[in-house]
Amino acid sequence: MNLVLFGPPGAGKGTQARRLVEGRGMVQLSTGDMLRAAQAANTETGRRAAAVMARGELVSDAIVVGLIEERLRQGTGAGAVFDGFPRTLAQADALGALLDRLGQRLDAVIELRVDDAALIDRIAGRFSCGRCGEVYHDRARPTRVPGVCDVCGSTGFVRRADDNAESLRQRLMEYYKKTAPLIGYYHAKGLLCPVDGLGGVEAVGAAIDALLARLAAPRRGRERALDGARESP
Ligand code: AP5
Repeated sequence: MNLVLFGPPGAGKGTQARRLVEGRGMVQLSTGDMLRAAQAANTETGRRAAAVMARGELVSDAIVVGLIEERLRQGTGAGAVFDGFPRTLAQADALGALLDRLGQRLDAVIELRVDDAALIDRIAGRFSCGRCGEVYHDRARPTRVPGVCDVCGSTGFVRRADDNAESLRQRLMEYYKKTAPLIGYYHAKGLLCPVDGLGGVEAVGAAIDALLARLAAPRRGRERALDGARESP
């Protein structure tokens, strides 16, 4: 199964993607994480992307499509959860063509609907473990023991360089201008499945699980279920 987790910056795509792949044998393909890894490794791609990301603008389609193509060719087991990709119409076309070539298809585009006030709050409160990368939130998802990572026990935490007010304003503008048109694109293909992203992490996860259960149902039931899940953009 191949899924796109779609939504504006801070909607919870990464949080839900990590939850989704657990126990399903799927892989999370986050272009943001790939670009940050390229920066940390000081590769040519990482150096080219760094300034663009710091400004909150989109990295070129050629770079991100290249990253996804390379990763897809390595195989994705039970499927992929695309997180933060595609973000432009050109990237969406490229993803369709790549999957076609691999004899695969996209099963659903899960759109996390979150309003701007919640996005700003989520991004302002985000921090992650400097060692294992586990993502937390000051209020919504603090560490169980203050100052100690739940997963690896590290006491070093980081905040993303682009999680500041100016960069976020630019990221939201980029989203509404270049990425939001994909809502209509995937609706027209019958793939768009909106989910209310305003609840807590577990409530949003449960809504996604219920949607996937309906997707996995036998064909007639599945079509009826999707009729219920999908709505106009
Ligand atoms: P990327 O890393 O993809 O950032 P983004 O889209 O801005 O999304 P975020 O990672 O900020 O948010 P998220 O939706 O994953 O939320 P999260 O789960 O962390 O991209 C960064 C940059 O890379 C881009 O600006 C661009 O420059 C470049 N780039 C990446 N992909 C690209 C592409 N395809 N094309 C071109 N350029 C590209 O949650 C946020 C916080 O909220 C966390 O603290 C979390 O704990 C908390 N939280 C999550 N869910 C909930 C909930 N339900 N309730 C309360 N809190 C919650």
